[in-house]
Amino acid sequence: MQSVIDHLQQNEDSALEELFEFLSIQSVSADSAFQPEMQRCAEFVQQAMQRAGLSAEIIPTPGHPVVLGQRIEDPELPTVLIYGHYDVQPPDPLELWTSPPFEPVIRDGRIFARGATDDKGQLFTHLKSIQAWIETEGRLPVNVKFLVEGEEEVGSDNLDNYLESNREALAADVGVISDTSQYGDGIPAITYGLRGIIAAEVRLTGPSKDLHSGVYGGSISNPVNALAAMCGALIDSEGRIQIPGFYDGVSELSEREQSEFARLPFSEDDFLSETGSTATFGETGFSTLQRRWARPTCDINGIVGGYTGEGPKTIVPSKAMAKITCRLVPGQDPEQILNALQQFLQARVPPGIQMEFLRFHGCPAFGLDPDSPWMGAAGEAMQDAFGQPPVFIREGGSIPVVSSFQQILGIDTLLLGWGRNTDNLHSPDEHFHVCDFHNGTRASALLWQKLADLRKQASARTAEG
Ligand code: BES
Ligand code: MN
Ligand code: MN
Repeated sequence: MQSVIDHLQQNEDSALEELFEFLSIQSVSADSAFQPEMQRCAEFVQQAMQRAGLSAEIIPTPGHPVVLGQRIEDPELPTVLIYGHYDVQPPDPLELWTSPPFEPVIRDGRIFARGATDDKGQLFTHLKSIQAWIETEGRLPVNVKFLVEGEEEVGSDNLDNYLESNREALAADVGVISDTSQYGDGIPAITYGLRGIIAAEVRLTGPSKDLHSGVYGGSISNPVNALAAMCGALIDSEGRIQIPGFYDGVSELSEREQSEFARLPFSEDDFLSETGSTATFGETGFSTLQRRWARPTCDINGIVGGYTGEGPKTIVPSKAMAKITCRLVPGQDPEQILNALQQFLQARVPPGIQMEFLRFHGCPAFGLDPDSPWMGAAGEAMQDAFGQPPVFIREGGSIPVVSSFQQILGIDTLLLGWGRNTDNLHSPDEHFHVCDFHNGTRASALLWQKLADLRKQASARTAEG
């Protein structure tokens, strides 16, 4: 084991160099202009897996390809299904980046590039730890299947089909994903719950063209006024979402979780400076952590319509559009919430306006027993690598594959995030701390051994009993 750790340390520079190559590929899944880069990125992942000592294939899907690597050492050993995503968010707005998003550089001990933390840098830690094991020990202490997809940032629409038709090939004992965050600087975390999501687009059309607002204003429906009113009705001033049935089935936080959330260090000032906001807002009666991790939300992600150029323009616009997402918690069904949202909006469309409602991705919330033995093994590996025991947290973000692993493959997933929420994921100047990359790689190397030990301990107990 020590030889693996030493090997990692001796090869830190070449690992970073290889990561830089990965980060320079413009794998933006949302924008079809980047299609050739997606293919190139899948090929890079395949080759990196092969260099690490895995067999690897690229599997086409109706969208962007999936890459599957694997190495089966011994059927008696536990099998780990690692997951990551090679696609990244669009880099816009480009002018807010200090250095170009696809020209990775290190400044202040951080790697700056789109995808540095979400998720290329994080998934790469597992490839490097696997490579170190194979190059020093000639084997892995566990069997590994490594699934890397290219559509996470657009909702993983084609992944469930792939999982369903490859249940046997993907069979495993536990999933491992590094695509979340540490709790804070120097506080590593294991995430045992994520929120789910639904996403929709609302398009309103009123008059067939923009009209003079003096001649026609006040006598026909204005789609921008209508959309503002419809969106404004979604949440009241107490932060309660007004969609009928929205909270049906939402599980209340247990006493235990409430007190565990309350025990975590939390500074409102730091939170405000992290977000650049002047005040917190949310559902009355809940703390900020409760609102972020355990309560459902409804957010307008974007809204446009009418004239938005310089100076005034007196029109009744013809069209308006909004993008809406809701974050979901355990007990909420994505399909049902999407229907309820549509009905809520449809009921508020004034005469003379047509609504078109587009449904995008969705996934339910995810939760795992924080007392599971997998968690204990992961906790030990993280403590050894980061020098601090991890805290157990939930997160507000979503990773569609985790509930699919549970529902389709029947396995639980360890969410071990090496990144930080302050890494500017999805924002300009995304970065990943070099020390988090190295510590994460070490934690990953230790994890494979700890998971193997767990199996040995379990079989020793069976032999005794
Ligand atoms: N890695 C994130 C999710 C995340 C980030 C979870 C930080 C916890 C902490 C992932 O890549 C992501 O952005 N997911 C999307 C999912 C959506 C597109 C279906 C999200 O949460 O918005
Ligand atoms: Mn991610
Ligand atoms: Mn993301």
